[in-house]
Amino acid sequence: VRLHHVIESQQFDRIWLEGELFPLAQEMEKVAEEGTSDLLEGKRMVSFFYQRSVRTRAAFEIAIKMLGGDVVFSTENASEFSGGIEGEILEDTIRFLCRFHPHVIVLRYHEEGGAKRAAEFSSVPIINAGDGRGQHPTRALVDLYTIQKKVGRIDGISVAMVGDLAQGRTARSLAYLLGKFSGVRIYFITPDTMRMGDDIKDYLARHNIWFTEENNLKAVASIVEVVYQTRTRAGLSGTIVDRFRQGTGAYTVDKGVLDLMKENAIVMHPLPRGAEIDFVVDNDPRAVYLREQADSSLIISMALLKMILA
Ligand code: CP
Repeated sequence: VRLHHVIESQQFDRIWLEGELFPLAQEMEKVAEEGTSDLLEGKRMVSFFYQRSVRTRAAFEIAIKMLGGDVVFSTENASEFSGGIEGEILEDTIRFLCRFHPHVIVLRYHEEGGAKRAAEFSSVPIINAGDGRGQHPTRALVDLYTIQKKVGRIDGISVAMVGDLAQGRTARSLAYLLGKFSGVRIYFITPDTMRMGDDIKDYLARHNIWFTEENNLKAVASIVEVVYQTRTRAGLSGTIVDRFRQGTGAYTVDKGVLDLMKENAIVMHPLPRGAEIDFVVDNDPRAVYLREQADSSLIISMALLKMILA
């Protein structure tokens, strides 16, 4: 079945992930090394972001160009320019944009469910590049592919998800994907006010994924294959940001945490990074957020665009 919209992590199954996405991503690694290709020549992408983005937008815009296609319209200020803050209706905007003959629309929206709403009215595939506190499925595919590459397996791994999991759409989407594998164990490491949502916990329970909630990363650092750190958002309450900044190690990846971690474990972060990962971590080979995880953003964007458009 040809991939059409990319809306949420639940839409993918293990057979597709391992049998289609990962092999195509490996092909795209070679195309990326070569630098250019004409696989998507003549294909037109609209890059429509209601919230700012560096990584996701750059990954998709560069990916389509590397595959010979074009970005025919791009904005990261859609809420300003489209009058979104004055009440312009997303469904109308999408229907209007479709009249200009794009082949795909990459959409980031500030409210949960935005991509799903857009897909209902779009005559072309919609790729959800993040919707409010909902999901960020393309990022989750990037993260899963990075885990497969670096750890060598997904079945049976232990993952510590750390930080503001109440708001972290990347962690939510990754949890859905991990739920498709067997023997995965997840430790949610958060302050009480930032717990992972019940919807995700219910999903994991239904899929027999073991999880627990802790409040100190150091307690589990030695037993996990993946530390998945997430972002401390600006605007959080002072006390929570202070707790990160004080470097207690409870929710921060620092030298003390690295010393506890296994040799073949990895530290991931969807970025942008705040005080939650100490700069000393960057030079450790286990820190993949500015290396392999970044590479995977481009590779998975190329793979998704090829699947949808070629
Ligand atoms: N991680 C992530 O989605 O980054 P951007 O907000 O820069 O796209």
